[in-house]
Amino acid sequence: MARRKLPGPIFNYIDGAADDEVTYRRNTASFERCDLVPNVLRGVENVDLSVTVMGQKLALPVYCSPTALQRLFHHQGERAVAAASDKYATMFGVSSLGTVSLEEVRKLSSAPQIYQFYFHKDRSLNRAMMERAKTAGVEVMMLTVDSITGGNRERDKRTGFSIPFKLTLAGMLQFAMKPAWGLNYLTHEPFRLPQLDEHVDMGGGTMSISKYFSEMLDPSMNWDDVAQMVEQWSGQFCLKGIMSVADAKRAADIGCTGIVLSNHGGRQLDGSRTAFDQLAEIVDAVGDRIDVLMDGGVQRGTHVLKALSLGAKAVGLGRYYLFPLAAAGQAGVERALELMRIEIERDMRLMGCSSVQQLSRANLRFR
Ligand SMILES: Cc1cc2nc3c(=O)[nH]c(=O)nc-3n(C[C@H](O)[C@H](O)[C@H](O)COP(=O)(O)O)c2cc1C
Repeated sequence: MARRKLPGPIFNYIDGAADDEVTYRRNTASFERCDLVPNVLRGVENVDLSVTVMGQKLALPVYCSPTALQRLFHHQGERAVAAASDKYATMFGVSSLGTVSLEEVRKLSSAPQIYQFYFHKDRSLNRAMMERAKTAGVEVMMLTVDSITGGNRERDKRTGFSIPFKLTLAGMLQFAMKPAWGLNYLTHEPFRLPQLDEHVDMGGGTMSISKYFSEMLDPSMNWDDVAQMVEQWSGQFCLKGIMSVADAKRAADIGCTGIVLSNHGGRQLDGSRTAFDQLAEIVDAVGDRIDVLMDGGVQRGTHVLKALSLGAKAVGLGRYYLFPLAAAGQAGVERALELMRIEIERDMRLMGCSSVQQLSRANLRFR
């Protein structure tokens, strides 16, 4: 449905990934390398799906991972995802490249709020943005560390997708084929990036997103810088995009309370390992010191159960809720979360587990 509704360049921005998209494809395939081993006759009338992650109680073991530009996908954008996350009492991450303000989104949901952050060259800007997040009532700061430079998204190069739009002729034709999207876009509030607008002139078109990445973000960012941020924030702080054991240990050492194993949905370093394949190693190394989360390729309740069995505390969803957002706004995201809730609950029963804590590696065999 998303493919039918969206102009090709926007659909491909969501669906695309880096280089040959090998990692993107493998993310979902990695869950198929192992099998669930159920137990039976365990009395599973009532199933508790709640988890506590970085001190936050979530009704479901899944959360909506931060993603950029949501009002391009559907005019309700982040408002839809926030309202759906509120209904299902789970976390939602607002992106630095979000299209609705953090303050507004915060008010739409009483569930814990994540703010996804990029590290800027301008340290005072970093401080100001963290203070803004604190004032807005954000519970979890999430610094994305796998985007020190932009990934090579070849689909976007072919269509000319960028903010502001610089479409190729082929890209323009694809927009012309979806007039309903265009009408909808033009009859709603103008496109903005409110997390950045105050600090960077994005709206006027002088700063493109790719320029934002290359000129505003700091490629010299290192562990000392992040240690300082963790101290300044003095609350729940996690790093998104950790993959190695050494980095996971370092994150724990500098006082992070969580890490998200992620390859950014295959959109950054193609050929990088999948979070699911790397999960056991990381949980074994730091699972007793820090909450380990993961995202990438999650499409089914059984994927979530497999990740939880290996020791993930919660699992992030990306495209799983973005396509439904594009297809049907808030109703789409709610339906996606409802289907996921039903699947996880059913699968837990079939596994003989009445709470997430009962899932363990004993429930899993690799082929
Ligand atoms: C369209 C799109 C935009 C994204 N924007 C961001 C972002 O602004 N910040 C961020 O940390 N991750 C971003 N991500 C990555 C997601 O948070 C998440 O790591 C990834 O989508 C998980 O993979 P999945 O889509 O296979 O579930 C984005 C992903 C997509 C698909």
